[in-house]
Amino acid sequence: MKVDIRNESSLLIWKHLRHASQEIKRETLHQLFQKTPKRADIFHIRHQNLLLDYSKQKVNLNVMQRLSQLAKNSRVISAFDNMMSGAVVNQSEGRSALHTALRLPQGQKLVVKGEDITQKVHTTLHAMELIVHKLHAGYWRGCTGEPITDVVNIGVGGSDLGPFFACQALHEFVPENAQHLQVHFVSSMDGIHIDRLLKKLNPATTLFIVASKSFKTPDTLGNAKIAKAWLHSLDSEYHERMKHHFIGVSSSAERMTEFGIQHQLPVFDWVGGRFSLWSAIGLPIAIKLGMKHFRELLAGAHAIDQHVINAPIANNIPLTMGLIAVWNASFLDIHAHTILPYDERMRHLPGYLSQLEMESNGKAVTHDGQIVASQTSPIVWGNVGANAQHAYFQLLHQGTHYVSSDFIAPISRYENATDITEQQRALQEQEKLMLANCITQSRLLAFGDQIKDGDSTPHLKYRGDQPSSTLLMDRLTPYNLGSLLAIYEHKVFVMATLWNINPFDQWGVEMGKRMAQSMLADIQNPQDSQQSHYDSSSALLLNAVKKQNHYGSSNQS
Ligand code: F6P
Repeated sequence: MKVDIRNESSLLIWKHLRHASQEIKRETLHQLFQKTPKRADIFHIRHQNLLLDYSKQKVNLNVMQRLSQLAKNSRVISAFDNMMSGAVVNQSEGRSALHTALRLPQGQKLVVKGEDITQKVHTTLHAMELIVHKLHAGYWRGCTGEPITDVVNIGVGGSDLGPFFACQALHEFVPENAQHLQVHFVSSMDGIHIDRLLKKLNPATTLFIVASKSFKTPDTLGNAKIAKAWLHSLDSEYHERMKHHFIGVSSSAERMTEFGIQHQLPVFDWVGGRFSLWSAIGLPIAIKLGMKHFRELLAGAHAIDQHVINAPIANNIPLTMGLIAVWNASFLDIHAHTILPYDERMRHLPGYLSQLEMESNGKAVTHDGQIVASQTSPIVWGNVGANAQHAYFQLLHQGTHYVSSDFIAPISRYENATDITEQQRALQEQEKLMLANCITQSRLLAFGDQIKDGDSTPHLKYRGDQPSSTLLMDRLTPYNLGSLLAIYEHKVFVMATLWNINPFDQWGVEMGKRMAQSMLADIQNPQDSQQSHYDSSSALLLNAVKKQNHYGSSNQS
């Protein structure tokens, strides 16, 4: 079913919201808090181990009520139902988007086109479990008989960012029986990435996972070819090397086979790349953290799938975050959004969310091919909050742009034991310092000089009025991390539904891939490209590259 948000009552709500935005733009966050000192009591949501405080967003009760009406009118919940039941929501590619099916508990049926999807999902999970068990027990051996010590995931975008982030974030959850395994990630098409890593590894004890949904991505295939060539030094047959040192994860069994890969895991056609860490693309996570923790990650995400369709709007975390994101982008003209985890373990969260948000909602046409009526995805970037404070926060505090922020932090990391060492005590102090900074920065961004009498000297002024939400979780666990990522997935879907755009395709990145192939042919061509079909700028750059590297002439000889 196509969601029609352009019906008359929706238009009326958009109009009311536009009007409300003109009013609220005249008020500062400081004034909003003065008017309603207990704003935080109204504008927060608790769910399981999570607390979302959005009182520092520029909203009031009227705005939240209108946004809720918009959600209802845009049939957001039925859009979720559609998506979760396997309807073709990715219309430009004629596909479903069933990432939520990847975290359905065993036994819960989901029949799509006459097939029980959950069964396929659990068969794959079982196949992953076998691989994980063999690696942890030291049964999986290289072709010369030595147990595997290093696993290298080769993939890019959705086949890299999620697993890479989760592995870094949850390092403390590596089980005892997996301590002997190191999991590495190679994503860049720049060969230096893999070359540097391979210099440190032993081919006899290294296993590669080639993760590519399409199994067409040149970046990944190029790196996989380098890995293949590197294994040449092993004293064994090609077939044996491929059998013992490669696992493929893809939706194309044919292409994996063509590449020589025998151990294969499927990625289903109905899972988008940036939504795929819950599938076999998550194999590196399962290898590093063990299947138990991988299943906890899935359970945390599933809990949010339930929450998003069942909780009333006012108590619904992803829905509220999605509505606020649309409010900021479409009504308050805030087009930059920064992700600020106050936790070193979540350093790579902003990279993951940049793809999730911008590749999904960086669209300008609606489902029916019309130019979208408002601005869509903001520019999303970020860093560990404590480090960002010493880098780009200056712009947030005193620059000319309005920027919204998500502060994210686990509340506690260390056990509250009294009998601790000096070093543990120092670590606990650091944790408190981190949290104090997290709360302080959102406060300063919101209120600026108005917190206390600021200095009126122009260069010392803090304008404030930069909106933010803060999402706290009790601890960083696989379960909570699963919940966090599902919240953002659903937030993105809410935004797309309100804008009536397709968050599941990415045609914008396809053209560049094709053009790079023809540029590559020209780099290899010894002729000067000045007179070619290129613009003068591209021709100048191309010739400079060719001259310096003699690519063309070496190709000739
Ligand atoms: O180029 C963008 C993209 O298609 C992403 O959407 C995707 O996550 C990434 O490339 C990798 O694709 P694949 O898993 O097919 O190699």
